[in-house]
Amino acid sequence: MKVKGTTQEAQVHIPQVKAPPYPEQDHLSEEEKRELKEQIKQKLKEQNAVLVAHYYTDGDLQDLAEETGGCVADSLEMARFGAEQEASTLVVAGVRFMGETSKILNIEKRVLMPDLAATCSLDEGCPIDQFRAYCDQYPDHTVVVYANTSAEVKARSDWVVTSGIALPVIKHLSQLGEKILWAPDKHLGQYVQHMTGVEMIFWPGSCLVHEEFKADALQKMHLNHPKAAVLVHPESPQNVVDLADVVGSTTALIEAVRTMDNPEFIVATDAGILHKMRQLAPDKVLLPAPTMGEGATCESCARCPWMAMNSLKKLAHVLDTGENEILVSQELAKKARIPIQRMLDFAAQMKQKK
Ligand code: 13P
Ligand code: SF4
Repeated sequence: MKVKGTTQEAQVHIPQVKAPPYPEQDHLSEEEKRELKEQIKQKLKEQNAVLVAHYYTDGDLQDLAEETGGCVADSLEMARFGAEQEASTLVVAGVRFMGETSKILNIEKRVLMPDLAATCSLDEGCPIDQFRAYCDQYPDHTVVVYANTSAEVKARSDWVVTSGIALPVIKHLSQLGEKILWAPDKHLGQYVQHMTGVEMIFWPGSCLVHEEFKADALQKMHLNHPKAAVLVHPESPQNVVDLADVVGSTTALIEAVRTMDNPEFIVATDAGILHKMRQLAPDKVLLPAPTMGEGATCESCARCPWMAMNSLKKLAHVLDTGENEILVSQELAKKARIPIQRMLDFAAQMKQKK
């Protein structure tokens, strides 16, 4: 896909974010897994709790969410689903910003997460003090932040968007003639800027998982698999996005595998997504996009170390102990809720128009 336009990067020094070591996984036998899942199901029921999981988390957590009336989804749908639940506890298997968004939208509910250390390189690379000072320099710009940010950063914004809705929101703001200050993912920012032509300055953050996909190695792989469609999450670098047949949120990429006729797909996003893709399209061949190649560090190898902190054992533990509750002050939640709700209302209007 070819994109148009130019971009302007912010002159701001952001913290260097380092990936934590990939976490130790549960290593349970099938029997142990079954028992643990049964215990968790029981506890969810007893505590009137619902499990909301992201597509990048462990496959067992995704299955459990669906088997127990919860959901597995992208970050937009996770926010929407949580807000519609009657359950008094939401257990969010994902990364911290997802738990915080749930809490902000459901301040009266208890929100638990399997591991509070599960953050995100975009969130960590956008500290509120620096961000606020930066925004203050551009009072005539509309501040649009990606959902992968802290509650404080959201509270300083005019709009929150996820990858699933960024493009239509920016198109809408562009039609209103607004200038955009975008944070924190420069690659997603660059993508929406080129697709819309809107005047935009952007924070120079990035996702260290998607940053590692390599255009040259991807091109070589595609030559060996000419019938494959290339699916790319827009947190990837622009030269990788340029090679895509489909650019979109995790939901959009899963839909592409389900609906497109290609026998093979090259998938440039976290490998956790392959679980749902395999379930929905068992006959299709799924090839993880290469993170190796010239200049590659392969620190993450397409597996988000923060998403991987979620596990069945930790989930059982928080349900036992009530540990790892997400807390957001009423005052902060009230401010952060405004731009999140704006996004949800916009999404609802889009759905109605369809
Ligand atoms: P989605 O909203 O597309 O699921 O993306 C969330 C995310 O963190 C991707 O890295
Ligand atoms: Fe954040 Fe990237 Fe992990 Fe998504 S994959 S949670 S953007 S570090």
